[in-house]
Amino acid sequence: METKADGVDGSLILIKQGAEARVFESSFVGRRSIVKERFSKKYRHPSLDAKLTLKRLNAEARCMTKARRLGVYTPVLYSVDIVLHTLTFEYVEGPSVKDIFLEFGLRNGGVVEERMDDIAMQIGHAVGKLHDGGLIHGDLTTSNMLIRAATNQLVVIDFGLSSTSTLPEDKAVDLYVLERALLSMHSSCGNVMDRILAAYRKSSKQWSSTLNKLAQVRQRGRKRTMVG
Ligand SMILES: Nc1ncnc2c1ncn2[C@@H]1O[C@H](COP(=O)(O)OP(=O)(O)O)[C@@H](O)[C@H]1O
Ligand SMILES: [Mg+2]
Repeated sequence: METKADGVDGSLILIKQGAEARVFESSFVGRRSIVKERFSKKYRHPSLDAKLTLKRLNAEARCMTKARRLGVYTPVLYSVDIVLHTLTFEYVEGPSVKDIFLEFGLRNGGVVEERMDDIAMQIGHAVGKLHDGGLIHGDLTTSNMLIRAATNQLVVIDFGLSSTSTLPEDKAVDLYVLERALLSMHSSCGNVMDRILAAYRKSSKQWSSTLNKLAQVRQRGRKRTMVG
């Protein structure tokens, strides 16, 4: 096997083409890995664009590392390449929460209530830890959560839209995005959001101000009201 200077060996298999990033499966020093490449948006000014791309790349790496420090499982970050604009992560073996929740929705699907409870609890705890640490995930959907098959642990991925904030408003919007995603994609999963919020309450010391805000955000949708 040939290992290049960047540690990526073997081929790159495209698994997702997004608006701002391409995600590949590859291997890094012999380990199964994920390579996430950020690319320019053509309509932006080239040099400004390169700066923004790098800024987001660094922010994603930093937020993921911060999440891990806060006690939330994330993939191991293998390398950051500021020339190729890539992040290389450990490949997490296991299904996404999206797949599990969709399967639960099917009649006679193999997913039982206890498993749903366990996952909802893990999501609530994880988001509570992120928020108490001042980290807003920014894209809490069930595709951005994986369940490590070997341990059944929740692994949070995709910190590409993450930011830091201690404002209840920002935390509430983070939860609201998750709530909307669950309602639209996983309506057959019943009160899974209630179970997530019950766990969030236990894990976040600031749950009360966040959940009060969430009630307001639900009233008006996610947009901030324009003042002035
Ligand atoms: N560490 C990982 N292990 C396994 N699969 C991953 C990993 N990271 C990403 N993926 C897969 O690639 C998809 C896209 O990655 P993601 O970081 O969410 O990029 P995007 O910003 O385009 O949504 C994920 O939904 C998941 O299916
Ligand atoms: Mg994603």
